[in-house]
Amino acid sequence: MLKKEQSDLITLTGPGTPGGRLFRSYWLPALLSSELPENDCPPVRVKLLSERLLAFRDSQGRLGLIDEFCAHRGVSLWFGRNEEGGLRCPYHGWKYDHTGQCVEVPSEPVESGFCTKIKLKSYPLIEMGGVLWTYMGPADKRPPLPAWEFAQVPPANSFMSKRIQESNWLQAMEGGIDSSHVSFLHRGDLNSDPLFRGAKANQYNLKDSRPVFEVVESPGGLYIGARRNAENGNYYWRITPWVMPSFTMIAPRGNHPVHGHFWVPADDETCWTWSFDYRPDRALTQEERQAMEDGKGIHVKYEPGTFRPLANKDNDYLMDRAGQKAGKTFSGVEGIAMQDASLQESMGPIVDRTKENLVSTDNGIIMARHRLIRATKALMDKDVVPPGVVSDHQTVRSAAVVLPPDQPFIEAAKDALTVQAGKAHASV
Ligand code: FES
Ligand SMILES: [Fe+2]
Repeated sequence: MLKKEQSDLITLTGPGTPGGRLFRSYWLPALLSSELPENDCPPVRVKLLSERLLAFRDSQGRLGLIDEFCAHRGVSLWFGRNEEGGLRCPYHGWKYDHTGQCVEVPSEPVESGFCTKIKLKSYPLIEMGGVLWTYMGPADKRPPLPAWEFAQVPPANSFMSKRIQESNWLQAMEGGIDSSHVSFLHRGDLNSDPLFRGAKANQYNLKDSRPVFEVVESPGGLYIGARRNAENGNYYWRITPWVMPSFTMIAPRGNHPVHGHFWVPADDETCWTWSFDYRPDRALTQEERQAMEDGKGIHVKYEPGTFRPLANKDNDYLMDRAGQKAGKTFSGVEGIAMQDASLQESMGPIVDRTKENLVSTDNGIIMARHRLIRATKALMDKDVVPPGVVSDHQTVRSAAVVLPPDQPFIEAAKDALTVQAGKAHASV
């Protein structure tokens, strides 16, 4: 349970809010590289941290993320002409470069220099690992480039998707670090989804629905260990790293690719759920990639031409009551990603955390909230750089291991929890 002020501190992320300042400490995934496929391609609207922005790739391939609206009289530059090294407003022809600098006001005499005084707000946009990343904080605090392993492997080894989710970012993220729901919500999929099935460990998940959580602080956030019974008195551990503010990597299963998420606020009641899959040691197979494109695993099918899932709140997520009754799925919603999203959206745009009744399996969530609150206050009061900004904090891994009962997971799996280039994750 949180007090309302505590919940507001970490759920509200618009300009000028403490939570917004926290998110503005990091490089955030803003667009898929494929959304801006070539020079002078159409610009793309993107809403982040409650700001309406426009991304474009100019004639020289330079990337820009600027205010969506023209400084003249507020027209959306989404209608703009992307040509000759900049974006031209179609209303009266004012033109902006990739930094938001106005470079031409055709109605004014060139000698007046009027256009040099006009600059739209803009943020840097860089390309890495199939993602366009932005940093929305002060220029003098710009952090080192993203060091996440999935963004460093060859393109053939990874797959990234994004979808819009109709809930605040925090309740979505809390679902990502709540390993206990897997034994219930996703039980119908563990043995059928092509990106999950066949792992020996699935049976541990299905047989033991009372996991014991051990949560350990890491430099960038937490390692959340969920322990279930295995054979001969040993324990099956699923270890999920959470790195501030919103990165998680799900523990691997068998020889499947490893997946994880970022949740980035679009505004206070909507977030972008980013979902990656990768292998450090090999290219994804054709079947794996096809399954991801088909919306299996943690990915989804879309309403055509959008990033809105095909199963969504307006069609009751295509609820299948017969499938629910027959045990094909536990909740009646198809697909792991929408099973999560449907329930997280059902809580309302921002869940009321003053009314919860938390139990021991919520320990990861409780510790993550406190870490977020602490870091936000330290940033506001003392300008302390929050966890998760520096590269070392990002080079983490998830792991799935079977250990004897007397071995603490954080020591026994120490090597498995940090990046070892080219080597597969520890998995069962
Ligand atoms: S509104 Fe854009 S040029 Fe006039
Ligand atoms: Fe889930």
